[in-house]
Amino acid sequence: MGPSMRPLPLVDRYEGEASAAAAPAAERPPPRAAGRRLYVETFGCQMNVLDSELVVGALRREGYEPTEDRKRADLVLFNTCSVREHAEDKVWSRLGELKPQKRRNPDLVIAVLGCMAQAHKDEILRRAPHVDIVCGTRDFPRLPRLVEGVERERAPVVAADLTHPVDIERDVTVRGDRHSAYVTVMYGCDFACTYCIVPHTRGAEVSRPVAEVKREVERLAADGVREVTLLGQTVDGYGKGLPGRPDLGDLLEAIHDTPGLERIRFITSHPSLMREPILRRVASLDKVCEYLHMPAQSGSDAVLARMRRGYTAARYREIVDRARAFVPDVAIASDFIVGFPGETERDFEATARLVREVGFSQAYVFKYSPRPFTPAYEGLEDDVPEDAKRERCTALLAVQEEVQARLHRDLRGRRLEVLVEGRSKNDARKLAGRTRQNRVCCFEGDDALVGSTVAVEVTGSTALTLFGTLVGAGPPPSGRGFG
Ligand code: 5AD
Ligand code: SF4
Repeated sequence: MGPSMRPLPLVDRYEGEASAAAAPAAERPPPRAAGRRLYVETFGCQMNVLDSELVVGALRREGYEPTEDRKRADLVLFNTCSVREHAEDKVWSRLGELKPQKRRNPDLVIAVLGCMAQAHKDEILRRAPHVDIVCGTRDFPRLPRLVEGVERERAPVVAADLTHPVDIERDVTVRGDRHSAYVTVMYGCDFACTYCIVPHTRGAEVSRPVAEVKREVERLAADGVREVTLLGQTVDGYGKGLPGRPDLGDLLEAIHDTPGLERIRFITSHPSLMREPILRRVASLDKVCEYLHMPAQSGSDAVLARMRRGYTAARYREIVDRARAFVPDVAIASDFIVGFPGETERDFEATARLVREVGFSQAYVFKYSPRPFTPAYEGLEDDVPEDAKRERCTALLAVQEEVQARLHRDLRGRRLEVLVEGRSKNDARKLAGRTRQNRVCCFEGDDALVGSTVAVEVTGSTALTLFGTLVGAGPPPSGRGFG
């Protein structure tokens, strides 16, 4: 999914439930930072959301308690995104807002984590001298020790070494959602798409061993998680460098029979890596959802070549056709960049055509934003005027809206399996959940259904949402049980 800014108050426990991690032990001394308050704000992609959860888990072990009130925090963390300039601007301005708070409370510790920390390192301390800790994308497991050091010595610190292995003992009880969780299966990216800062901020690809991922999924499922989403920048390239060279299909198979687990998703896929052994498993393993997030980025061959995506629009279409041949009802979601250097009206038309013809279930559209450290920034002039970028963005979203409205209309009358997430934000009488194809579906029902899979018959729809009536509760005999 496309990154977005999100203030993320982390839900770490649910009322009335005890946390194993927080179990009192009479003989244990109180943790070092007992009573200190921690405020976290997360910008960007799902990987950042998960990294923030991991960091909160580690800091809770030190005694920090999450708070939603930044003004009362003793430790403020910003987990940042560099993928577009706008995301960075937002963080710079949030850092500015913290200045008076730091002046009033010199003991306040401020840490910048993630992609901006990795990309800008010391520059952050220069531009925002009230920051105490700059902690890159592979150093967050060290954060508790960095915070301790700063609290003791009051000297700012920069830790941003991409060669560090990421190993962190996950507190599975800390997560933003009770029934759904992210699991990182690989770090970094070995591609070199010319617009993208990710290879610079997240480094070279490293896959986590199958057994390690499997253990984590089992612990999550034992804590009530029904759906896991495996995360990687190019998740369909999973396995490189691991003994025996497992692929994503093998990983899906290894975690599939986890007791309690009902759904498995994986994001984000690179079209060139979506090979048959993976598609075969998506088709054959019941718990693996028929959903691929496989960004096309553009429908113009000239633009795709300048982006160095490694495929043409025709090849992308073939990849989609093959996916649909293996998994007939697979939903395909995409990202697009409009206004990439040299993009003409004709190039843009080719993108709009691709969107119309492929029929994406969702599309995230971004205006090109030149990023330092990228080949496009060094070598290609950002020559599409802002107005044209904005118009193309709006136009492409309008095309996608039409497509989605049509696809949703076609689903009316069908019975779909929905994993119930909670009350609908727009209509408190209704429950909201997601279909296997990741479509939002609302229907009337009881709170007791939250966290279970139910059958819903689709009776109405908009471009964004399906509406339906409950026709069956409880998990289906097989994930594919509903048409
Ligand atoms: N400008 C605009 N969008 C970008 N993306 C990545 N880099 C840039 C950039 N420099 C988009 C791509 C990617 C998504 C996560 O963000 O579409 O798939
Ligand atoms: Fe960026 Fe391309 Fe890697 Fe995706 S595949 S993270 S767009 S370099």
